[in-house]
Amino acid sequence: MNRSAEQQMNPLREGLSTRAVPQPCSIVIFGATGDLTHRKLIPALYNLAADGELPPAVAIIGFARRPKSDDDFRKEMEEAVRKFSRQAVRDEIWKTFSQSLFYHQSEFGDEAGYKSLAERLEETDNERGTRGNRLFYFAAGPDQFETILKNLKAAELNRAKEGSWARVIIEKPFGTDLASARELNRIVNDAFDESQTYRIDHFLGKETAQNILVLRFANAIFEPLWNTRYIDHLQITAAETLGVETRAGYYETAGALRDMVQNHLLQLLCLVTMEAPTDLRADSIRDEKVKVVRALRRITGSEVAKNVVRAQYTEGAIGGQPVPGYRQEKGVDPKSTTETYAALRINIDNWRWADVPVYMRVGKRLPKSATEISVHFKKAPPVLFNKETVTIDQNVLVIRIQPDEGISLRMLAKIPGTSLRIEPVKMDFHYGTSFGKASPEAYERLLLDAMSGDATLFARRDEVEEAWTFIDPIEEAWHAKKDAPELYFYPAGSWGPEAADDLLARDGRPWRRL
Ligand code: BG6
Repeated sequence: MNRSAEQQMNPLREGLSTRAVPQPCSIVIFGATGDLTHRKLIPALYNLAADGELPPAVAIIGFARRPKSDDDFRKEMEEAVRKFSRQAVRDEIWKTFSQSLFYHQSEFGDEAGYKSLAERLEETDNERGTRGNRLFYFAAGPDQFETILKNLKAAELNRAKEGSWARVIIEKPFGTDLASARELNRIVNDAFDESQTYRIDHFLGKETAQNILVLRFANAIFEPLWNTRYIDHLQITAAETLGVETRAGYYETAGALRDMVQNHLLQLLCLVTMEAPTDLRADSIRDEKVKVVRALRRITGSEVAKNVVRAQYTEGAIGGQPVPGYRQEKGVDPKSTTETYAALRINIDNWRWADVPVYMRVGKRLPKSATEISVHFKKAPPVLFNKETVTIDQNVLVIRIQPDEGISLRMLAKIPGTSLRIEPVKMDFHYGTSFGKASPEAYERLLLDAMSGDATLFARRDEVEEAWTFIDPIEEAWHAKKDAPELYFYPAGSWGPEAADDLLARDGRPWRRL
């Protein structure tokens, strides 16, 4: 695939290989009064400023409906940053940072609002040296995307002047199935071409997710073992203690499979199973990832009940505190069949992974919040220390995405003493202790990358569409009028339904204990 004009404009930044070189720009946030802006975007931008990572010339313009002055917006954002920032807020840094925050009041569908935005951006370029570079962040609901895109196009804000750039960052959900994803992509690409489009999957911005490729391809010892000859199976778990919180409106139309598997978990799966890219450019990496999704065996019809388990939480307790069931949550249909848990048995039909099942599980209201990938190696041959009478454990490499980011390897060792007793021990690497500093938030890294023109950690159009072709048949089976697979239930605070344990037990394997 050719390097896009976009990437050629920024030769210093080549995928994961070098440091980001963010460029001066105006960042326009659509949906500036929403949750994402408060919780993630502005705190991330503040932290970048505090770490000296933001380019000196940056203007952040909140675009939303409610009337508000720049000062009101700054005050509101200060509260948000004080509440959600990773680092404690330093007054002198906030003072300088807040001077780059502005508010632009307009309805999303009001043409005049975009005209005045264009004028304001011109002024900003002159006053603040933002050089005509524009980053449009869509933090509004997906139902607003089309209106915003049409208006940006009409105001010619989708095209940058010679030597400058215009980019758009889109938040998930990228559709609810293949057809709607294609439609969304068509609408987006009608205003911005693919090289200008950054689809955020915040899991890719997590430090340990980025480290997967380093682990695999910067070390010579793993890759020779990373295949069906030596690996028995893989497990990917994303467990959350949180319930649906205030997001019932969205979640009721999504469910765990669309909310987490279609994007985050398949992205992790790609990173851990893809072939080595020819170089570290965004498209070289994304070319390899999309091949994995293409190789996933589609689970269709009656196979769905055998390979996928869906479940919903009922009332229970988290950390000793009673919590309601999903159907009792605010905004949820009392007869809802939306799944809050999904477990899948996946096959990758390629040479490297033939006969290596991947077990994936994701759920809300589980006993612990933890995301990890575990690579379970084949057992040692059944001789010497591994005779039938004393079967020993397998080696397991665990990549902890969160919390306590790190990597551990389980090995077997002799217990000191005169008799021969073998026990598993762990070689354990913790980011916090090894590097002595906290990892940046995913949004910090991703915003910086978008300002630098590096799309490596963003989902490409074909990846997203391909992922839906895997998800759609499962959703179809679940929503079939006849013989739809059962919806199981699990009490909040438990590790999901028994059916998910049976999924592995049938293959003679258990889920890893987290
Ligand atoms: C979001 C999902 O994309 O990821 C949420 O919509 C989920 O349902 C969240 O809670 C998990 O992200 P993190 O970074 O908190 O693990």
